Amino acid sequence: MELIIYNQHYIMSDHVPAVAMEAVLKPSCELPEDTPKIKGYDFNQGVDLQAVLKSYLTTGFQASSLGLAVQEINSMIEKRLEPVKTEDNESQEIYKSPHKTGCTIFLGYTSNLISSGVRESIRYLVEHHMVDVIVTTAGGIEEDFIKCLAHTYLGDFSLPGKELRLKGINRIGNLLVPNDNYCKFEDWMMPILDQMLLEQNTEGTRWTPSKMIHRLGKEINNTDSVYYWAYKNNIPVFSPALTDGSLGDMIYFHSFKNPGLILDIVEDIRKLNSHAVHAKSTGMIILGGGLVKHHIANANLMRNGANFSVYVNTGQEFDGSDSGARPDEAVSWGKIRTDATPVKVYADASLVFPLIVAQTFALHADKLTASEKTQ
Ligand SMILES: NC(=O)c1ccc[n+]([C@@H]2O[C@H](COP(=O)([O-])OP(=O)(O)OC[C@H]3O[C@@H](n4cnc5c(N)ncnc54)[C@H](O)[C@@H]3O)[C@@H](O)[C@H]2O)c1
Repeated sequence: MELIIYNQHYIMSDHVPAVAMEAVLKPSCELPEDTPKIKGYDFNQGVDLQAVLKSYLTTGFQASSLGLAVQEINSMIEKRLEPVKTEDNESQEIYKSPHKTGCTIFLGYTSNLISSGVRESIRYLVEHHMVDVIVTTAGGIEEDFIKCLAHTYLGDFSLPGKELRLKGINRIGNLLVPNDNYCKFEDWMMPILDQMLLEQNTEGTRWTPSKMIHRLGKEINNTDSVYYWAYKNNIPVFSPALTDGSLGDMIYFHSFKNPGLILDIVEDIRKLNSHAVHAKSTGMIILGGGLVKHHIANANLMRNGANFSVYVNTGQEFDGSDSGARPDEAVSWGKIRTDATPVKVYADASLVFPLIVAQTFALHADKLTASEKTQ
């Protein structure tokens, strides 16, 4: 038998190299008894979508993150069902009730999600008063009202911008919004802006973005609208950059025709932060990044961190962006509690949010709406 020299190891040529044996067959430590075992859905059991979703937790990758997000939101719901007394005056002023829920749920979403059909999942939560505080960007407000005036259509990501521009069609991803929709929005908005200015000048109304959204929700008077239900259920909607969208265009045009309208963001930051400070516990559900993600997390810094958190976004952290920052970065800032179990799902919210609602709020709708009626 021939001896060969390989990497300082003398081995027999017809034997497995000892270094390879040791490397490949290195013995393991025992994993803790309760470590979940990977197992997906078996379609021999028929098509049972509830069971498919349940199996996500033990499927791995982002399916497991979705399963963990469902657990985290169900913990928020359980806490929410424990009503507590609002003792101090500021709490009574904020909650306008002698009671508040055991968990104040903050919901944030980017504008495009209202352009998409995720709007209907959000409207469901607001209609049944399953969330307490909303933060979105300007498009997340106006697109809801525009959809009450005219439709948004399905197109394609690849439709060329030049051709669409010539036809007066705007594209949001693979959604199409005819420019006429914004003309209808202008016709609807202008008399409301006139009236708001009149009330400011004659009654001393100090308008804030949240007061304006509340008023628009009342004016739209349409049960398809998220903000109609926010108005009905007195759910505050914060949007500090309310001018960065078509609403800003309307306010700009109006400032030439009938100048003087003022929107105060100081009163709103006091209100938003007070919701976090006076809550018994808090939960954050944040779809997408940018302003909506940070505004909610920053409000929760005022209470030394949220108790429960779920992020659903496509952002990555390597560029140092707040959009992509994982929950652990928010822990370092005191925006999420150090003992919390936050979850980030890396996914397009249009794909996963309706599934999350199906496994959480919609599943517990009876309990949630019963507690709402008794308060
Ligand atoms: N329909 C619209 O998108 C629209 C309309 C009018 C005005 N605007 C304005 O554009 C500005 C920027 O919009 P924005 O701050 O709402 O968000 P954005 O669209 O800039 O998104 C911010 C981040 O959120 C994440 N994200 C976005 N969509 C997601 C999805 N479907 N699933 C998972 N993650 C997602 C991504 O990481 C993204 O970088 C705002 O001021 C807004 O008012 C948007």
